[in-house]
Amino acid sequence: MSLAADSAAHRASDRSQGEGRSLRLTALTKEFATFTAVRSLDLEVPAGTFFALLGPSGCGKTTTLRMVAGLDTPTSGTIHLGDDEITYEKPYRRPVNTVFQNYALFPHLDIHENVAFGLRRRKVKDVDQQVQEMLSLVELEAQARKKPPQMSGGQQQRVALARALINRPEVLLLDEPLGALDLKLRRGMQIELKRIQTEVGLTFVHVTHDQEEAMTMADTIAVMNSGVIEQMGSPAELYENPRTTFVANFLGQSNLIAGAVSSTVSSTDGDVVRVDMHGTQVSIPADRAHVRAGDGWVGIRPEKVLIEPLGEPLDAPGNHLTGGVITDVSFVGVSTQYLVMMPWGQELMSFEQNTGRRPVLATGTKVDVSWRPEFAFLLPASQDVNAGVVEES
Ligand SMILES: Nc1ncnc2c1ncn2[C@@H]1O[C@H](COP(=O)(O)OP(=O)(O)OP(=O)(O)O)[C@@H](O)[C@H]1O
Ligand SMILES: [Mg+2]
Repeated sequence: MSLAADSAAHRASDRSQGEGRSLRLTALTKEFATFTAVRSLDLEVPAGTFFALLGPSGCGKTTTLRMVAGLDTPTSGTIHLGDDEITYEKPYRRPVNTVFQNYALFPHLDIHENVAFGLRRRKVKDVDQQVQEMLSLVELEAQARKKPPQMSGGQQQRVALARALINRPEVLLLDEPLGALDLKLRRGMQIELKRIQTEVGLTFVHVTHDQEEAMTMADTIAVMNSGVIEQMGSPAELYENPRTTFVANFLGQSNLIAGAVSSTVSSTDGDVVRVDMHGTQVSIPADRAHVRAGDGWVGIRPEKVLIEPLGEPLDAPGNHLTGGVITDVSFVGVSTQYLVMMPWGQELMSFEQNTGRRPVLATGTKVDVSWRPEFAFLLPASQDVNAGVVEES
């Protein structure tokens, strides 16, 4: 039976019964002559999930994928699919396929034959029907007789995907597959890729340095930095409760403010860590406080920071700071992004939806600042406050 003939419902029930094998990397390490690209990486990708490996250029993403595909040999560590170790298995013997950024289609073959390639090589019968089903999955049935140079980048990407999926890999590795597409096409393909993954129910491991792309598509994101995983979790978990300054800055943006823990107090809503922040006491839920004593960085996302002109009531109870002055206003359509200079000489970012609730505030306006305590987090002072900051290009 072909892959596409498997109905989505059938696949979904497979997964709920726990079939399929998870991909597990244990202490995986790759050292090149003078450089350690991947350091003792541990991660598990559950069968049938969409997993994103997210990190800046050079952090070791491609090296990790190449080891899973069998194109690079690890220096140490193991790779398992379920209970089977595949660390040293030949690439063609692994139930793994890769889609690269440069689609590497055969330019002289038409789309149908490009997709049929893997089956023909394995001397499979009934090629035509399976190819048609694949082309229908990626919505290219009508283009079967075109050649790659006659197609757009997005269409070629879908052909590359169909060509990989027709081999029914257990794990599909995608290395920046959307990198060559323009922004609008990228956004469309992200949703398309997610739809296809849900439909076929295979395990997708998607490598990207685009945090928005990872958040749009993935069930789980592993944030990678200099060869190690900084944090792993659902997009919402990582965004709401980052454990490192790198994750706080690389996944979205964060205000990080120096403070010192003064006490931990019990309340009916759970324990709260009190922090002295330039003379103001602020509260942070204990499960978001990744330091319990000494100095730390108080983190708060810009859209959680509320500002009001001096003397007007603030919405949020709790963490409340006075003495801010607006130093920059950027109108970006859906929102307005303010920079607010605080008395201790640091500019905080505040992003406000343009709901029309009140006119945009002008530069020079004196404001009070607040945020709900439940949105704050606390990170160790030993971490670099600028780690993972993405420079605006
Ligand atoms: N064959 C090699 N010999 C020596 N160093 C290598 C080799 N291949 C990769 N590296 C180094 O290992 C590091 C990780 O490379 P890798 O290609 O895995 O990064 P990446 O996360 O995929 O980056 P990008 O987002 O730019 O594709 C880089 O610093 C790279 O220079
Ligand atoms: Mg790479």
